[in-house]
Amino acid sequence: MRSEPEVPMSDTPFSISVADRVKRLPPYLFGKINKLKYEKRVAGVDVIDLGMGNPTDAPDPMITEKMAESLADSRNHRYSVSNGIANLRKEVAARYNRKYGVRLNPDNEIVTCIGSKEGFSHMCLALMGPGDTAIVPAPYFPVHVYAVALAAGNVISLDCREPEKFLQNVAYTCEHLYPKPKLVIVNYPHNPSTTVVEQDFYDDLVKLAKKYEFMVISDFAYADICFDGYQAPSFLSSKGASSVGVEFTTMSKSFSMAGWRVGFCAGNPEMVRALATIKGYYDYGLFQPTQIAAIVAMRHCEASVGTLAAEYQVRRDALCDGLERIGWEVERPKATMFVWAKIPEPWAQMGSIDFSMKLLDEGGVAVSPGRGFGEDGEGYLRLAIVENVQRLRQAVRQIDRCLNKTPAVSASAAE
Ligand SMILES: Cc1ncc(COP(=O)(O)O)c(C=O)c1O
Repeated sequence: MRSEPEVPMSDTPFSISVADRVKRLPPYLFGKINKLKYEKRVAGVDVIDLGMGNPTDAPDPMITEKMAESLADSRNHRYSVSNGIANLRKEVAARYNRKYGVRLNPDNEIVTCIGSKEGFSHMCLALMGPGDTAIVPAPYFPVHVYAVALAAGNVISLDCREPEKFLQNVAYTCEHLYPKPKLVIVNYPHNPSTTVVEQDFYDDLVKLAKKYEFMVISDFAYADICFDGYQAPSFLSSKGASSVGVEFTTMSKSFSMAGWRVGFCAGNPEMVRALATIKGYYDYGLFQPTQIAAIVAMRHCEASVGTLAAEYQVRRDALCDGLERIGWEVERPKATMFVWAKIPEPWAQMGSIDFSMKLLDEGGVAVSPGRGFGEDGEGYLRLAIVENVQRLRQAVRQIDRCLNKTPAVSASAAE
């Protein structure tokens, strides 16, 4: 076997200068924790990883079987189309109609994305430019800020944990900022704070959008992970929503297909066209077997979405019960796959990054520090309920031991 020639790094004849848009990106605050997590794993520690909303459950077997069948068909190995095959877009329209009573034209009101994160980022590139301002919800899911920054836009972040106040602040910003914000990003059920809204929130948002002439992007990633009978409303169900904005949905969470990278953008035809145009230049669409399996998922596996949400609810209760038992103040979320927990005294002064490092280093439990979601997230931790109930209970025991100064144990040793 021929080995790759080594490329000496120091031989570059000129200094590499990356674009300003890369330099403008804020520092990645999860880096330190990810490095320690990696080191722990290399050292053989069985880290209980509640850091990322990365589902560990397998998709419905019907989905993987269809994927395998489609792989065997040689016609499915060519380039696909960047906006997604027609039958997939039709299936998205059918699901929107079934779930939310929203009628969408699959030809010009829906585009398939390589995960909703890709679609969201390119939508920001399609809409924003130098001098444009976007309002983003705070604490923020990082890409909501980074995508606007990469598009050379300015960001104003507004606390979204009290939705009515958020709308008042949007109106206030529109009244006082010149030029007015061009785009308002919303994300309910919200990552990381788990805040939810009812339909009237979107009714009011659409009215504001028309009044102040801003566009709306609704990131609806947690549409289906709802608890205790709560049903998250779709932005597109509000009258006139499609005239001012779009909504992103994803199969990552609802169908446990995060690695498959299947997301959708639906709503305003001009915004959808702008995204499709950019994507037409950048990509050739999703691997076709993935798209075919996604059709089967939406057509035949709706029951598994409900089962999955019920499982997340059981995990939510296991984690919240455990944390309350050790004296933490936690609000039981109505949706998402996270618990947003206030750092208890006397640890709050430590700051969420150092506290998370302590939990990982001494307790073997990885969580996301609130500060990783901007200044408004400080004082909190985000714990993803992606591990099973036994592991979540074990995580609470390890956190308790670590904070009460009992010598740290690895999960495997404690099990
Ligand atoms: C709020 C939010 N939007 C978007 C995404 C990305 O989803 P996708 O896997 O479809 O890119 C996530 C993933 O964690 C998320 O939490």
